[in-house]
Amino acid sequence: MAPLHVPMRLLACAMLGFVTAEMRADDFPHYDLGTIPAWQDLASLRGARPVSQVLSKADYHHQLRALDIQQLYSAIATLMATSKPYWPADGPQDGDVASYAGLFARLAWHCSGSFRMINDTHAAGGCEGARQRHWPENEWRDNTNLDKARGLLAEVKLQFGDRVSWSDLMTFAGTVAIKASGGPAKKFCFGRLDDVSGDRSIPLGVEGVAQCYGSKFCKSNFECPNTFRWSEQNDTDHARCKIEQPDRLQASHSVGLIYVYPEGPELKTSAKDYKAYWVHNRSPRLSALEVRDTFRDRMGWTDRETVALIGGGHTLGRTHGNCNLTGTKWAQTPYNNVGPYFEATAGSLRGPTDGTCGTGPEAGFGKNTVSSGFEGPWTRSPSRWNYDFFDALLSEEWVPAKSPYGNDQWHTRNHTSEFAKTMRLTSDISLVADETYHKIVREYAADHAQFDADFADAWFKLVHRSEDHPHKDDLEQDAGICTSFEFVTQANFLP
Ligand code: HEM
Ligand SMILES: *[C@@H]1O[C@H](CO)[C@@H](O)[C@H](O)[C@H]1NC(C)=O
Ligand SMILES: *[C@@H]1O[C@H](CO)[C@@H](O)[C@H](O)[C@H]1NC(C)=O
Ligand SMILES: *[C@@H]1O[C@H](CO)[C@@H](O)[C@H](O)[C@H]1NC(C)=O
Ligand SMILES: *[C@@H]1O[C@H](CO)[C@@H](O)[C@H](O)[C@H]1NC(C)=O
Repeated sequence: MAPLHVPMRLLACAMLGFVTAEMRADDFPHYDLGTIPAWQDLASLRGARPVSQVLSKADYHHQLRALDIQQLYSAIATLMATSKPYWPADGPQDGDVASYAGLFARLAWHCSGSFRMINDTHAAGGCEGARQRHWPENEWRDNTNLDKARGLLAEVKLQFGDRVSWSDLMTFAGTVAIKASGGPAKKFCFGRLDDVSGDRSIPLGVEGVAQCYGSKFCKSNFECPNTFRWSEQNDTDHARCKIEQPDRLQASHSVGLIYVYPEGPELKTSAKDYKAYWVHNRSPRLSALEVRDTFRDRMGWTDRETVALIGGGHTLGRTHGNCNLTGTKWAQTPYNNVGPYFEATAGSLRGPTDGTCGTGPEAGFGKNTVSSGFEGPWTRSPSRWNYDFFDALLSEEWVPAKSPYGNDQWHTRNHTSEFAKTMRLTSDISLVADETYHKIVREYAADHAQFDADFADAWFKLVHRSEDHPHKDDLEQDAGICTSFEFVTQANFLP
C-alpha cells in the first residue's frame, strides 16, 4: 500500500530506466529555501553571522502595500492542486482529486501551534518568525514531512519575494488550502516578521543535536526533566512531560512531540476498561486529559475551540506511512549536522534516501517516507471540505486496529460501512470519550453551519497569535493589511 501515489510519469520513466536520484534532486529546486540546513543554524548559534536576511518591520509593512493578495491566493491555490513529481500530492489513493490541502493546512497548524499562552502571562512560540524553517523546530518529530510543504511553497516565495514573509506565507497557505477546498475562512491578516534563526524556539524544546553552545537552554537530546504516567497507564508505556519544567514550556509527551501523543496512553491489564481481546488498549478517556492538558493548559484554548480545531483539521488530508528504520544508521543517529532523519530529498544527503527507504523511483516516496506511521484519511473526500469527521465519530463504532506500520489506531467495526476506509487516532476518539467534548461533538454533527463558524474563528485565532502578537487582533492593529476573501467565488474552488 503506497500512501502517496507515484504518478504515471515517474512510473513510465522508471520503466524506460532514466529516472535517477540526481534528476529528482534537481526537480526539487528550491528545497533549501524552505529548510535552512541545520549546520548553518548551529553555526549561527556559535556566534557566526546568521544566514537568513530579514526585513525590518517598517520595510516589511512598506513591501506589504505592494502585495497583490488575490494573486498570492491564486498562486497558492494553483500550486495546491498541481501534483509535483518530486512530492506527489495525496487524494487519488483515497478516491479524491490530487491536493496538497492537508499538507498545507498541517504546515500552518504546526507552525502556529507552537504558541504557548500559560496563565495569560507566558507567551512563546507561534508562527511569526517562521522558525519552523530553522533548527530546532525543523527537527521536531512532530514536523516530519513539512520540509516538503515548505519546499513546495518556496516556489511561491520566490515569485513574491519580499512582498510576503515566510511566516505570512505559511499561515496564509494553510488558510487558502481550507478556503480553496470549500472550507470556512473569514479573514486573514498579514504582517508577520521572520526571524534570522530558530533561537527563540529553544525554550519550547530541543532534541537531537550533537553539540550546541551559547544558550542556557540549549542541551543536546534534552528530555523532559519532570515526567509522569497516569495511574492506570502501563509502566512500559511512554512517560508524559509535566507542564512544570525548569525554564521550559515544552512538550506534552516528549521533546519533539510538542502537541499531543496521538496514540494515547496504553492501559494496565488491571484497568477497569482493559479488554484482553483488543489489539491495543489505548485509552481515549485518558487521551482526552492529555488533549485538554495541551490545548487548554499549555495553549490557552477553550474546549469548544479544541473540538472545532481537531475536527476541522482532520477533515482534510490523511495520515501517512513510515519507512521502517529499525537497525539502520538513521535509527542509531537520527540527527546530524545536515538535518533531521525525516528530511528526505534524493541527493541531499539528508534523510534516508540512501537506499534505506526504497531505491530508484520509489526512494523516499509513499510508504518509503518517514511520517507518523498511521495510515489512512479521516474522511471520504480528504481533498474537499466535508462533515464526515464528527458524523462518523458518532454514527460508527470505532474499534482498536494496527496500521501496516504497527501504530495503534482505530477503524470502524462495520467493514461494509461507507466510512470503512477512514481511520481515527486515539486523540480523535477522545472527543467522544470525554463528557464535555462529546456534547460539543454532538452539537457540531447536528449543526454544520455552527461548526463552520466556530472552526473559522478558532483557525483565525490559531494562525494570528504569536509571542510577538499574543492576542488575535494584534497583527491587524500593527500592520493593518487584511483580506476577507471577497474575491473568492465558487469558481476559485477545486473542481
Ligand atoms: C490532538 C491533537 C492532534 C493530534 C494528536 C494530531 C495528529 C496528527 C497526525 C499523527 C497526523 C498524520 C501526519 C502524517 O502522517 O502525515 C496528522 C495530520 C494532520 N493534522 Fe493533526 N493532530 C492533531 C490536531 C490537529 C489540529 C488542531 C489541526 C488543524 C487545525 C490538525 C491538522 C492536520 C492536518 C490538516 C493533517 C493532514 C496532513 C496531510 O494531509 O499531509 N491536526 N495529525
Ligand atoms: C500558573 O498559575 C498556577 C496557579 O496560580 C501556578 O501554580 C503556576 O506556576 C503558573 N504557571 C506559570 C508558568 O507561571
Ligand atoms: C504492560 O505492558 C507489557 C507489554 O505489553 C505487558 O507485558 C505487561 O503485562 C503490562 N503490565 C501491566 C501491569 O499491565
Ligand atoms: C521493522 O524492522 C525490524 C527489523 O527488521 C523488525 O523486527 C520489525 O518487526 C519491523 N517493524 C515493523 C512495524 O514492520
Ligand atoms: C454496515 O454498514 C452497511 C452500509 O451502511 C449497512 O447496510 C449495514 O447494516 C451495517 N451493518 C451493521 C452491523 O450495522
